[in-house]
Amino acid sequence: MPSVFTLSHLLLHSKWKTLGKRGRWIVPIYRKPGARGTKALSTFLLSRLEISCNGMPLLRSHTAPGDHLDLKEYRENKPFGYRTGSKPLQTVSMWVYLLAAAALLAVWWLHRDRQEVGQVKDKFVFITGCDTGFGNLLAKRLVRRGFRVLAGCLTQKGVDGLQSSNTSTLKAILLDVTDCSSIQKAADWVQAEVGEKGLWGLVNNAGRAIPIGPTEWMKMEDYLKVLNVNLLGLMEVTLTFLPLVKKARGRIVNVASILGRISLAGGGYCLSKSGVESFSDSLRRDMQHFGIQVCIIEPGFFKTAVTNLEGIENDLQRLWDRLSPEVRESYGQNYLAKYMKAQQFSMNILCDGDLSKVTTCMEHALVARHPRSRYAAGWDAKLFWIPLSYMPTRLSDFLLTLLLPKPLQSVQ
Ligand SMILES: NC(=O)c1ccc[n+]([C@@H]2O[C@H](COP(=O)([O-])OP(=O)(O)OC[C@H]3O[C@@H](n4cnc5c(N)ncnc54)[C@H](OP(=O)(O)O)[C@@H]3O)[C@@H](O)[C@H]2O)c1
Repeated sequence: MPSVFTLSHLLLHSKWKTLGKRGRWIVPIYRKPGARGTKALSTFLLSRLEISCNGMPLLRSHTAPGDHLDLKEYRENKPFGYRTGSKPLQTVSMWVYLLAAAALLAVWWLHRDRQEVGQVKDKFVFITGCDTGFGNLLAKRLVRRGFRVLAGCLTQKGVDGLQSSNTSTLKAILLDVTDCSSIQKAADWVQAEVGEKGLWGLVNNAGRAIPIGPTEWMKMEDYLKVLNVNLLGLMEVTLTFLPLVKKARGRIVNVASILGRISLAGGGYCLSKSGVESFSDSLRRDMQHFGIQVCIIEPGFFKTAVTNLEGIENDLQRLWDRLSPEVRESYGQNYLAKYMKAQQFSMNILCDGDLSKVTTCMEHALVARHPRSRYAAGWDAKLFWIPLSYMPTRLSDFLLTLLLPKPLQSVQ
């Protein structure tokens, strides 16, 4: 096989040109006298790949070492054909170069993606929302990996649960991200723990989903319940902890959602996650100058308290019960039951029980030398939600409305 050097050398000494009335891309190769490696590679390509000009195959016998293309003559005399002779032309399908470049790029990217920062033993990571779900699992995984983990939990039960593990490298504190004094108290505690080292990782994971449902059923207070935790809480925690992260030139890992890219339901959830994406993007660009890296985690659907159907359905019933009779009539008396059934059906298909798919992304964001800006976790995120988010609005709207029932008085 030709070496990487040979290929890059060839690319440097080649010129790309479109030729032929069939709209085919071909590449004339200049073989400069003394150009190292070019001859070896062109011989290799000639022997293995389709080499043609305007659909006319050029065989190895048509070429000789030291041949070169006189472009001027070629342009003037032979626009749509090629005569072998004293100045033969070697052409190789452009796709060969593109494929080779793509393969090289993939190898380089994989190699870069696997590089890790060195010693993590002295690195501190603070995680919010560690009572259950991803936050709880991540805290335990990072301890096993050697990090010093500081966990924020909403409840005393959560704090006790984590501290019962009796690990000196895992400590927990009460934290409500909607309460400024609670955030400041946690920041002071973290400052005392990390000292001059600063905070290597801040993982903004705390979140809630309900109230979630049809937009018309919401009141402003419903939006605020979710926005206060998922977006405003995340922003306040970030701004309060930023000096500690700056000191360590560390990372901020913000848990958004695939629903931050495409809004599936009314309520504050999708809105808040879209806000997390936007906040993180500006934060990443602004803080790169100080060596801080910002990563966004975009999980699909996973089986945790956030997607617990019982909680979501109880809250939907509350929203339904407080609707005015006219609004309820426009949806039809059976609408709520049909809505819940449709929701159960899609959640059962979509929800993944393997939470480690998400924590592996969070872990990568904390240990990789070159963390990614965005991590999509879960098959549904990669194969369904992300492609859907790039589709024309009419098409994505059509597909999403298929998932839910139509109101009784629908005019469509
Ligand atoms: N599960 C999914 O399918 C999914 C998909 C995309 C994104 N996410 C996001 O992933 C993150 C973690 O959620 P999860 O799925 O692991 O669900 P989870 O088990 O409910 O975790 C959320 C955690 O946040 C805590 N929390 C709620 N309100 C808080 C507050 N005001 N202050 C501090 N902590 C608070 C919860 O505490 P309590 O348990 O005590 O309420 C809980 O520990 C959330 O941001 C969520 O939006 C989840």
